[in-house]
Amino acid sequence: MTNEEVAVLPEGFLIGAATGAHQIEGGNVNSDWWEWEHRQGTPCLEPSGDACDFYHRFREDIALLAGFGLNAFRFSVEWARIEPAEGEFSQAELNHYRHVLASCHEHRVKPIVTFHHISLPAWVQQLGGLASDRFPALFERYCDRAAGGLGDLLDYACTINEPDALPTGGYILGVNPPGRKGDKDAMRRAEENLLEAHRVGGAAIRSQADVPVGVVLALPDIQYEDGAGPGDSPTELNSRLSDRFFELARDDDFVGVQTYTRVRIGRDGPQGADVDWEQRRSETPETTQMGYEYYPQALGNTIRRAWRSTGGTPILVTESGIATSIDEKRVAYIEAALREVESALADGVNVRSYLYWSLLDNFEWSLGYRPTFGLVGADRRTFARVPKASAYWLGAVARTRHVPTTRGCDTSAATVR
Ligand code: BGC
Repeated sequence: MTNEEVAVLPEGFLIGAATGAHQIEGGNVNSDWWEWEHRQGTPCLEPSGDACDFYHRFREDIALLAGFGLNAFRFSVEWARIEPAEGEFSQAELNHYRHVLASCHEHRVKPIVTFHHISLPAWVQQLGGLASDRFPALFERYCDRAAGGLGDLLDYACTINEPDALPTGGYILGVNPPGRKGDKDAMRRAEENLLEAHRVGGAAIRSQADVPVGVVLALPDIQYEDGAGPGDSPTELNSRLSDRFFELARDDDFVGVQTYTRVRIGRDGPQGADVDWEQRRSETPETTQMGYEYYPQALGNTIRRAWRSTGGTPILVTESGIATSIDEKRVAYIEAALREVESALADGVNVRSYLYWSLLDNFEWSLGYRPTFGLVGADRRTFARVPKASAYWLGAVARTRHVPTTRGCDTSAATVR
């Protein structure tokens, strides 16, 4: 047996792809994002429209994912569909998600379901959204009803996607609804509400469904230059909130790690991704279509941070990915990220999944359809799916539980576009 044939990932390790409802389903007209995308003066470059029409094409997409060999699929159920008006729940939409879940099981794909992935029902936003003191109780009731309708078909439940990045996004940076800038009071209220919402929402899900429940966090690898101290940049505010979620996650069944890059903080605050501040590199540092530094090694540090900070709560890597038009670069990125997972496993860290963001090229929030994260392309007019080589590569990793070396991949291009 050669080294290449040795399976290194543990049995039962989940390898798959992650998505979010608003970004792929299309026609999410009752959500706050839909309203925001159509409002003048927001940073949105284009509306989500039909997205990838996943709402109608989920069967073929799940079959495609399973056909590659992937064994897990993370998607979110849309609160704006399930509770389109306050206290009014749609059985038809719960049935829809039951079909999506059944489709996963038919293909032996484990569904990992997020209850809230960035978009809110428009009526929740009108009540004050994340900053409203009603938010935790509203989320709790929604979780109770959604888990009551879907619980028997779930494998894992994630309460809230990246709650550690939502308060600055909506109230400091203004890149998410309600688009406020510099409103620290509202940001703090949103922080407290999200912590409470995770607690009560998680308990509601557990009361209805016998599944592992956790929160999935936005974790850039933050690195401080010598002499630089912690400041109040949005990234650092998010990170302090991540620490509070880690405390809660001590009592959870898992914690989700979502990492794309590192953020370097110098004496003057966060540095641009393209600044060669170590002055060691011979060329301009690589950046992705998101403007992030190409730095797949970030995942190892954030997995270890989550493991330490939770005192050993099992870890799911629920998002890791790169926006690039060069698919070889995507494969190289995933390989490097998986090496970090292997190294963490070798050190005894209990990592149970690697979910690539994303299955499809999709709606990247205010940046619209320009960044291409997908293992699969989706034609904007015909919705035709175009699998990329990376999809087959990752599928082979899932089938063999072995990460081959991507020899011959050109990783030298200075800019990953
Ligand atoms: C979010 C996704 C987003 C991805 C890539 C994560 O922050 O959960 O919704 O598309 O990163 O930017």
